[in-house]
Amino acid sequence: MEHELSKIAIIDFGSQFTQLIAKRIRVMNVYCEIFPQNTDFKTVKEFNGFVFSGGPESVNNSESELAAEIIKLNETMSVPILGICYGKQLICHYFGAQIKTNFNREFGKTKIKILKESPIVNGVWDIGAEVDVMMSHSDSVNTIPEGFTLIASGVINQTVAIIVNESRKIYCTQFHPEVKHTENGIGLLSNFLDIAHCSRNWTMQSFIDEQKQKIQNMVGNQKVIAAVSGGIDSSVATALTYQAIGPQLNCLFIDTGLLSNSQKQNINMLQEFPICYIDRSNLFLSRLNGITSPEQKRKIIGNTFIEIFEEEAKKLGNIGFLMQGTIYSDVIESGHASNNASTVKSHHNVGGLPEKMQLKLIEPLYYLFKDEVRILGKEVGLVHEIISQHPFPGPGLAIRIIGEVTEEKVHILQEVEEIYSNTMKNYNLYDEIWQAFAVLLPIKTVGIMGDKRTYKYVCALRAVTSSDGMTADAFPFEDKNKYSLVFWDFLQNVSNIIINKVTGVSRVVYDITSKPPATIEWE
Ligand code: XMP
Repeated sequence: MEHELSKIAIIDFGSQFTQLIAKRIRVMNVYCEIFPQNTDFKTVKEFNGFVFSGGPESVNNSESELAAEIIKLNETMSVPILGICYGKQLICHYFGAQIKTNFNREFGKTKIKILKESPIVNGVWDIGAEVDVMMSHSDSVNTIPEGFTLIASGVINQTVAIIVNESRKIYCTQFHPEVKHTENGIGLLSNFLDIAHCSRNWTMQSFIDEQKQKIQNMVGNQKVIAAVSGGIDSSVATALTYQAIGPQLNCLFIDTGLLSNSQKQNINMLQEFPICYIDRSNLFLSRLNGITSPEQKRKIIGNTFIEIFEEEAKKLGNIGFLMQGTIYSDVIESGHASNNASTVKSHHNVGGLPEKMQLKLIEPLYYLFKDEVRILGKEVGLVHEIISQHPFPGPGLAIRIIGEVTEEKVHILQEVEEIYSNTMKNYNLYDEIWQAFAVLLPIKTVGIMGDKRTYKYVCALRAVTSSDGMTADAFPFEDKNKYSLVFWDFLQNVSNIIINKVTGVSRVVYDITSKPPATIEWE
């Protein structure tokens, strides 16, 4: 029935992209949930369709009872299944195909050719089309299982790219339709939702209502303490939680001494929430004294944060919970998303939590990506300046000062960042760029100013395009004539202002690396 909520179950086999599948489905207004592979079959059997995610294992070394039960359900009820990468190998293995390990390995962008029509590609890719897709696999299917038809294969090495069993409504892709690098992969996912007869009536407002209800049930009449930094995530999480429990929420703004100037200004725009200002910059800077390892910096900052929160919670009394603006990319990058994911960086609001933390956590944005947080922020009524600001990492300028953090370096970087950000706004570039910031390098180089030799720091400017921070490209010099002149002119101008106004810097460079292979932040 049209008014009923359709539901897709995503079975997570440990891929870094599992949440992206969920996000793409949510964007198409269909409700979905992610389940670990050890979930009891009864929990998922009422869903309208199933997606088996990718994963790092080889199916030759693992079995999935849940996947087998779902495939049996499909046999009797025709509930559609989409297997992606590892999910595809799992299905093929179940149907008796041979899986070869380390055969035709492919990582990154490649091309596939559409060979036949199928409801899964209709209207998305025509027969004969060569399509850019993202592959990431070591295993390959060697034989096509009985009942399945080959719909697309790899252009270079004939990889079995899409196979389907139309009568059983089972669809398998070797590539990842959920990532942006696959051209119109969302079209394939959309076809899958149609095949599963999903009504598209789930909205961000439904998410807000669910979260508010959950928070109210968890908290009861206890108090909640929250870290508010003026950044987008903590502001949106605060607004949502405040709508759920009102004055039971106590917000603390901790000045770590590692914030950008604009972050401090943003706090003034959040006056409607009860925010208490605490300056602990000396404590943070003294604990970072002599520390150069990025991971150690993150752990120290995370632990110090929680310590201060526990102290403040004691003072306030009857605090049962800590609310944080953790979002899903923080979770993935910290390696907490699945037991199989590896740690890229310990995001301090996840990886730095001390084992014996005495407050329970509320993280209402845990499953959202940055662009979804922005949509949510608008729905809960936050102003454009807060919602549109670039992401700012929890550990702040400490991870943008490469090597040892000192008060002098923090001041230099704060000045550079303010100039960079204001100049972007003057050129109307700020809202075009997903994230931009400066990095202070631990090296000095020779310059010449007013006939005198100088020997000062190098600062690197970074500006990236992205949609969720999971992948990113350097903001382009030449983008179909849109930015080329402006951006070059902008870079020269901003570099001049920095060198002239900031005494500690004598050279400015621009970082042109994508993510991957680099990350967005330098540490
Ligand atoms: P990376 O550098 O991992 O960054 O490519 C992806 C996005 O996450 C932000 N980031 C952080 N955010 N705590 C945060 O709250 C952190 O420790 C952290 N490290 C990186 C980064 O600014 C980018 O937007």
